[in-house]
Amino acid sequence: MLSLIIAPSILSANFSCLGEDIKKVAAAGAEWLHIDVMDGHFVPNLTIGPQVVADIRRETSLFLDVHLMIESPEKLIPAFIEAGADLITVHSETCPHLHRTLNMIRELGARAGAAINPATPESVLEYVLTELDLILVMSVNPGFGGQKFIPGSLQKIASIKSRLDALGSKAFLEVDGGINAETGRAVVQAGCNVLVAGSYIFKAPDPADRVRLLQQL
Ligand code: DX5
Ligand code: ZN
Repeated sequence: MLSLIIAPSILSANFSCLGEDIKKVAAAGAEWLHIDVMDGHFVPNLTIGPQVVADIRRETSLFLDVHLMIESPEKLIPAFIEAGADLITVHSETCPHLHRTLNMIRELGARAGAAINPATPESVLEYVLTELDLILVMSVNPGFGGQKFIPGSLQKIASIKSRLDALGSKAFLEVDGGINAETGRAVVQAGCNVLVAGSYIFKAPDPADRVRLLQQL
C-alpha cells in the first residue's frame, strides 16, 4: 500500500508571493506540487505557461505534478518537460490519440497521467492503463478552485481502484476538486493515494496546518 501523497494546488496560492507559499507547504511535508495549466478554451479560465514552471523548478525540489487543461496538449508538452515538470497529466477529452500522447510524455522523460472529467466514464482509459503512471479523477468540472466536490466521483474512484488492483498496477490514483478533511477522508477510503487540494490549503490562515491535517487521513 502506497502512502498518501498531498499535492497542494498553487491555483489558490498568492501569485505575488508564490515562492513563499510554496515554502510553507514544503515545510509542512507536502511532497508534490500541483500546477494547473488552463488555456481559456478547454476550460473557461487562463493560468500559467512553461516559464512559471521553470521558475518554480529553480525554487523547489518538490515533485512537480503538471495538470494540463488545454487543447492540443502535445504542442506544449515538450516545453513543460523542458521547464522541469516531473509528471504531466493530459485530459482524455482533449486527446484523440491518447495512447500516442502518453507515450510521447514518457519518451521525453516525464511520468504520464490521464485525467477524466466528472461526465467522462473511466472506461475511456481501459486500453491505456499500462501506459499510465497516474489517473486523475476530476471531482469538480475543471477551470476554477473552490468548487464543491461531486459525490458521484467516489463510485468512479472505487471502480478504478479495483481495476488497478486486478491488474497489479502501481499507477497513482489522484483526485482533484473540492478536497477538504471530510471529502479527503471519503476519497482515501475509496482508494485514492494522491490528494490535490487548492483552496482548502492556500486560503486557510495556516496552509501548513491544512497539509498536516490531510496527511493524517
Ligand atoms: C480545478 C483545478 C484544481 C483546483 C482545485 O480545475 O484542476 O487543481 O486548484 O481547487 P480546490 O481544491 O479549491 O477545489
Ligand atoms: Zn488540477
